[in-house]
Amino acid sequence: VSNIAVMIEEAIEPPLARMAGTLAQRAAEGKLRQLRLGSQGVDFSTNDYLGLARDKALHQQVLESWAAYIDSPTNGATASRLLGGESVLAEETEADISRFHQAESALLFATGYMANQGLLSCVANRGETILYDAYVHASLREGLRLSLATTLSFHHNDLEHLREQLARAKGQVYVATESVFSMDGDTALLAEIATLCREFGAKLILDEAHALGVLGQKGEGLWTTDLEDVTLARVYTFGKGLGCHGAAVVGSNILKLYLINYCRPFIYSTALAPVQMLAIRHAYPMMAAADDARTQIRTLAAALNEGLKDLKVEGFLADYCPAQASIAAIIQPGNTEVRALAATLQAAGFDVRPVVSPTVQAGTERIRICLHSYNTLGEVEKLLSTLRANYAKATRPL
Ligand SMILES: Cc1ncc(COP(=O)(O)O)c(C=O)c1O
Repeated sequence: VSNIAVMIEEAIEPPLARMAGTLAQRAAEGKLRQLRLGSQGVDFSTNDYLGLARDKALHQQVLESWAAYIDSPTNGATASRLLGGESVLAEETEADISRFHQAESALLFATGYMANQGLLSCVANRGETILYDAYVHASLREGLRLSLATTLSFHHNDLEHLREQLARAKGQVYVATESVFSMDGDTALLAEIATLCREFGAKLILDEAHALGVLGQKGEGLWTTDLEDVTLARVYTFGKGLGCHGAAVVGSNILKLYLINYCRPFIYSTALAPVQMLAIRHAYPMMAAADDARTQIRTLAAALNEGLKDLKVEGFLADYCPAQASIAAIIQPGNTEVRALAATLQAAGFDVRPVVSPTVQAGTERIRICLHSYNTLGEVEKLLSTLRANYAKATRPL
């Protein structure tokens, strides 16, 4: 922090002086974001839900297939797929992904951010309307900002409000939401949303980022084939439950061809590197087979939810979001307060991070708790008892 203070102090040239002023203001408000090394302690913060990012067998499989790849042409993809970066491996990887997700086709992207931003920005035309859940991820919002269509939010998971917005929306309508919300950990009311989409002729765009690997048969996510008739596109990201990197938009052949033609992050960016695609191909079957890991996450979630409920009932906890998949949140209003709580938990041996405003709405600052198959019930219990001791020390309960 002192380095940063000096850095800000010493910036006298415009535009760095202006940036320094903005940063100083942000720091004074307790909102300065900083990178921090160290996954010290019990991991309750990463998105490696099934432990695949640290799985030695997966690592070994990728190494071996990468070694076998020695006669193939390149280390990197060399270009965008439209300009020489196309490969048999990309096509085979997409075929694997679309088969697993029971879709006609899949299109790979370098990250989930690019997939969402690109998809949302190009899929709808002027005169059409995209309705989106107020809690969708920044990557979808970025695409919405770039879209030529009218974009309107509906209150988070609020079916009545969605219905009102559907009634008011013009042209072809799209409804964008997430299977598992990344900061609250709750799930979309998909069946009800699909019913409304049917009634109004709207098409669903679903981000399955935090559901892949955790929910559904073989970890396939929240989407099921009975939603096929209302679904335009699904987005699967590989940097979370799959433990790799990249993403795919899954849907029809027409959608894929449209994206290849109009989706700028696909057209103007280098394709995934071969080693990344090999990792994705090896990780999928491992993820599908990880039923024990999913059971463990559910067991941990039940224990955590029970403990957080007790703490709230006893008046200690301002609020909490129960885990419906593998994400929960302990609400601790105030950036300073949530940082102090994170420090207490870190000192007790937990790798947790505060999520401060403006990432979340002011007053709903939180410790986001991610549960993993490699966490234990003992760790969850120790987390709960640390919270209890911390709150009990405070002069009065909340
Ligand atoms: C819901 C959701 N969608 C998309 C993304 C972006 O995915 P990626 O990390 O692959 O860019 C995230 C990442 O945090 C996310 O939480």
